[in-house]
Amino acid sequence: MTQRVALVTGAMGGLGTAICQALAKKGHKVVAAYHPQFDKPEEWLKEQAAEGFKDFIPVAGDVSDLASVEKMVADAVEKAGPIDILVNNAGITRDKMFAKMEREQWDAVINTNLSSLFNVTKQVSAKMAERGWGRIINISSVNGVKGQAGQTNYSAAKAGVIGFTKALAQELAAKGVTVNAVAPGYVATKMVTAIREDILKSIVDSVPMKRLAKPEEIGFAVAFLADDLSGFTTGATLNVNGGLNYQ
Ligand code: CAA
Repeated sequence: MTQRVALVTGAMGGLGTAICQALAKKGHKVVAAYHPQFDKPEEWLKEQAAEGFKDFIPVAGDVSDLASVEKMVADAVEKAGPIDILVNNAGITRDKMFAKMEREQWDAVINTNLSSLFNVTKQVSAKMAERGWGRIINISSVNGVKGQAGQTNYSAAKAGVIGFTKALAQELAAKGVTVNAVAPGYVATKMVTAIREDILKSIVDSVPMKRLAKPEEIGFAVAFLADDLSGFTTGATLNVNGGLNYQ
């Protein structure tokens, strides 16, 4: 297979780590983008090396800030070469019932989970089109598909991710660049295990498969969409949610 250069945002989080590993297993060169305030990049890199993933290339940048992203992607290209595969994975939650939600919590989630797609994709999409090959994979969420009480900000952003994906897919379809979304259900990462225990239990009970996803199950979906043979798949949302959104 052809080795590609992949840039993964939010790379050092629960889902990001699994995505980096899945792409590395396919033989790709993986640039692991992390927030400048994340204090343990070296530790993460050491852990990855201990698991056999020695070649991740770290770059720092705040995906919610265009100027920071411009520098981050320039750094990535300098270290690894032009980006062939972009995984827009960075995301946060600021869960509150809407009646109690502050504008700050709304803005933080919209900026990090949705406006980041403008900031990061803008740096790479035209160049992918010029080269005639590219994969843009955006991480949405089951809660963008079905809505979730306590997450008007997050559900709006993640539904926005799907709209962005479908629109950009049409713009780039004739240029060899596919744009798809993966909509994970509840995955066993810190973001999910931080939910209050009783609420989490009722969430797991509501999942037809009665369990959380393993991060690797999401990584695999991303690697699938990044494959050469996914070249006819564009504008799609791949639901990986244990059956949750079909209820
Ligand atoms: N639907 C409708 N109303 C609900 C509700 C629901 N699912 N859950 C709670 N409520 C109501 C409660 O009955 C309560 O109403 P009253 O005040 O009238 O009694 C009110 O909302 C407040 O509920 P809480 O006691 O839960 O309020 P809280 O302030 O302690 O907690 C919350 C609010 C933080 C949003 C909490 O409900 C929560 O964590 N909910 C889960 C949200 C969730 O699923 N987040 C996903 C995070 S993981 C992720 O996002 C990854 C991914 O992509 C899947």
